[in-house]
Amino acid sequence: MSLGIYIHIPYCLQLCPYCDFTKYEWGKTLAPEHYVDLVKAEIHAHAKGLLPREVSTVYFGGGTPSLLEPHLILALLEELEKAGFQLHRNAVSHDGRPQTEISIEIDPATVDAAKLDRYLAMGINRFSVGAQSFNDRLLKIAGRKHTAQDTVELLSLLKSRGVNYSFDLLFALPSQTLEEVGEDVSRALEFGPSHLSAYCLTVPEGHKMDQNRALEDDQVEMFHLIEDRLKAAGLERYEISNFAKPGFESRHNSLYWADEPYWGIGLSSHSYLPARALSESDKALAPYGARFWNRRAMKEYEKEFSPPKAGDWSFIKQTPDDRIERLKPHQALTDFMHTSLRRTKGLEENALRLRFGDQIAGEILKRLEGLLLSGWVSKTQTGFQMTREGRLVANLLFEKFTFLEEEFAQLTRAKPAP
Ligand SMILES: C[S@@+](CC[C@H](N)C(=O)[O-])C[C@H]1O[C@@H](n2cnc3c(N)ncnc32)[C@H](O)[C@@H]1O
Ligand code: SF4
Repeated sequence: MSLGIYIHIPYCLQLCPYCDFTKYEWGKTLAPEHYVDLVKAEIHAHAKGLLPREVSTVYFGGGTPSLLEPHLILALLEELEKAGFQLHRNAVSHDGRPQTEISIEIDPATVDAAKLDRYLAMGINRFSVGAQSFNDRLLKIAGRKHTAQDTVELLSLLKSRGVNYSFDLLFALPSQTLEEVGEDVSRALEFGPSHLSAYCLTVPEGHKMDQNRALEDDQVEMFHLIEDRLKAAGLERYEISNFAKPGFESRHNSLYWADEPYWGIGLSSHSYLPARALSESDKALAPYGARFWNRRAMKEYEKEFSPPKAGDWSFIKQTPDDRIERLKPHQALTDFMHTSLRRTKGLEENALRLRFGDQIAGEILKRLEGLLLSGWVSKTQTGFQMTREGRLVANLLFEKFTFLEEEFAQLTRAKPAP
């Protein structure tokens, strides 16, 4: 069993008005060296509470991890190794792909050739570029400090080193037209990306960036334009917002949707540990696994990990109740349904049977069969997948597979296998 690890780096050059991720403006909070010490302390506190030692992915996300000096990123990779996790840095599998996928989010104007070479030397093998748009007017509206030229320079540098990179585009920005979305996709494709994430701007109603935007139907048209243009260029959608050439799907993203264990370290990070990844004593306390999340405020995180804790800190016993959810069977089934349906490959009947038993599986499959006529789902060789129409009403579809405790009890009289 292998493990995905997410490490949050909460520093940014600017605080973008639309962004709800945990971040602080550079220079206005704890020094990065001190933050890295806290993250190291967190790694050691929990290291023995986890069963998997083999690490399949490490993802440095933010914030803007590329603001940190590379030696601090290296120190975190080394700390994971010291704590007994196997990362296989720079090792390649028999299929020529890295044994451990190590990704970092990098922003334009924060990485030069020297920094990139240091990342490559320490074993980072996947770069996610926060491009957002190639239109300077829209970048300004989004409150970004970088320009389209900065992005072009960074992408050219990545291309010249032949490394694996992806980039993020934002669409449905205020005043953005369908034509401008098309131009962004064209510019993106000029760089021949093997992976691209396209996010529809999401802001609460009444937010200043929720004005002068494409109406919902036009946003759908933007969505389809992106999907069709990327498909024509060989990038298939493998999740609602993610596209990749075959074999270049982000292994880290994919494990979020495949019931695999992931451990989120650092400020505000979320973790999911199915029972099979927990130590024996923790498993007894959470037979369906658990989700938990770290504090969002730097001061509280600092209080928690300085001074450092002993290395056998139990996730289940020692995480305060307001930051842990011990999964009940109905929540485990809801999670399984949502994550499976989000993936293009969809829900696999065998996996459903294995995890929840024949009786529950039978009931779920009946419901999916019943939805075939609506056109929201279709059959695959191994189960069911959400259709293009289904994706447009994904929330309604997910609602149909969100189970309350009583509803779960109705689905079966027998308890499903954990
Ligand atoms: C948390 S950011 C980190 C990457 C990097 N700091 C950046 O902004 O380029 C990851 C991605 O989330 C997306 N994102 C952030 N806020 C969003 C929002 N309100 N709606 C849609 N996408 C958003 C952006 O495309 C961004 O690239
Ligand atoms: S740079 Fe990225 S993480 Fe930072 S505020 Fe902007 S969107 Fe959020």
